[in-house]
Amino acid sequence: MTGPSVTHGAAVTLAARLAQATERLRAAGVASPRADAEQLAAFALGISRARLVGVDDLPARAAERFDELVGRRARREPLQHLTGLAGFRYLDLAVGPGVFVPRPETESVVGWAIAALPSLPAGPVCVDLCAGSGAIALSLAGEVPGARVHAVEVDPAALGWLRRNVAASGLPVTVHEADVTAAPTASLARLAGAVDLVVSNPPYLPDADRDEVEPEVGEHDPPRALWGGADGLDVVRAVVALAARLLRPGGLLVVEHADGHGAAAPGLLRADGRWVDVADHPDLAGRDRFVSGRRRAGVAGS
Ligand SMILES: C[S@@+](CC[C@H](N)C(=O)[O-])C[C@H]1O[C@@H](n2cnc3c(N)ncnc32)[C@H](O)[C@@H]1O
Repeated sequence: MTGPSVTHGAAVTLAARLAQATERLRAAGVASPRADAEQLAAFALGISRARLVGVDDLPARAAERFDELVGRRARREPLQHLTGLAGFRYLDLAVGPGVFVPRPETESVVGWAIAALPSLPAGPVCVDLCAGSGAIALSLAGEVPGARVHAVEVDPAALGWLRRNVAASGLPVTVHEADVTAAPTASLARLAGAVDLVVSNPPYLPDADRDEVEPEVGEHDPPRALWGGADGLDVVRAVVALAARLLRPGGLLVVEHADGHGAAAPGLLRADGRWVDVADHPDLAGRDRFVSGRRRAGVAGS
C-alpha cells in the first residue's frame, strides 16, 4: 500500500488526516480539495496554513473540530463561511451567512481601477456601489493614498457585515444604506457631480442560470447578491445611471459583469450617450469581466 502512513504508534498523523479529508472533499465535488483540507486543518489548530509543515498530528479536540469542518465542507458550505474570513487583495474580511463571499476576479477589477487612478486627482472621491462585505471599498481606502471612499449597500444582513469590516479596518469608508435602483438618498445626492471613481460588482447573473451554479453559490451566497433579472443586467443598468449622476466630467466608472456580457455591458454605456472611452476587459482567465468608461462632460446627469 502506498500513501502517507496513518499512524505514529496509536496516533493518526496529520498527513494521513489531510489525505483522507482531501479524498472526502474531492468525492463531494469540492474544486480545490487539498487546499481546503489544509485551510481547515490550520483553522482547527488556530495557526496559519504555512505553519502546518511543522505539525505531526492534531490534538484530540482539534482533530474532532477538523472532522466536523471537513464534513460541513463536504456538504458544500463555503470554506470562507467555515473559517469566517475571506482574503481579498491585502484584506481579511469577515464573512458568513447573509453576505456575498468576495471573489478573486473582483480583485483584478479593483487592481485595474487603482492602476487607472493616476489619471484622476490625488485624494480621489470613490464610490463602491453594491458593496457587500466592503471588499472593493476597503481595498480602495487601504491602497489609494488620501482616498475618500463611500460604500453603498441595500441589504440589511450585508450592511451588518460591511459595517463590521469597516469598523475593524479603521479605514475611512462612509457607509450608505441605499438602493441603487431607487432615487438617490439625501447623503448620496450630496455627492452628485463630485465623484472621481465609481467601482461596482453588482448582482449580474441571468435568472435562468439558477440551476447552473455550484451549491456554495446557490445555497449560501444571498440571492440578492447574485440575480440580475431576465438578462442579468437589471442592477447593472441602475448602476450605470446612478454613476452618471455621481461622477464629475472625466470621472471613471468600472463595473464587473457576467462573462456573457462582454458586448452587452459596453453596449449599455455606448447607447446611454453619457460615456466616452468605453472599453471591456477580460479577467485573468481571459473571460470578459468588466467594463470601463469615463463620464462625458456637458450631458445632463439624469
Ligand atoms: C455580487 S455582490 C458584490 C459584493 C461586493 N461588492 C464584492 O465584490 O464582494 C452584490 C451586492 O449588491 C447588493 N445589492 C443588490 N441589489 C442592490 C441594490 N439595488 N442596491 C444596493 N445594493 C444592492 C447585494 O446585497 C450584494 O451585497
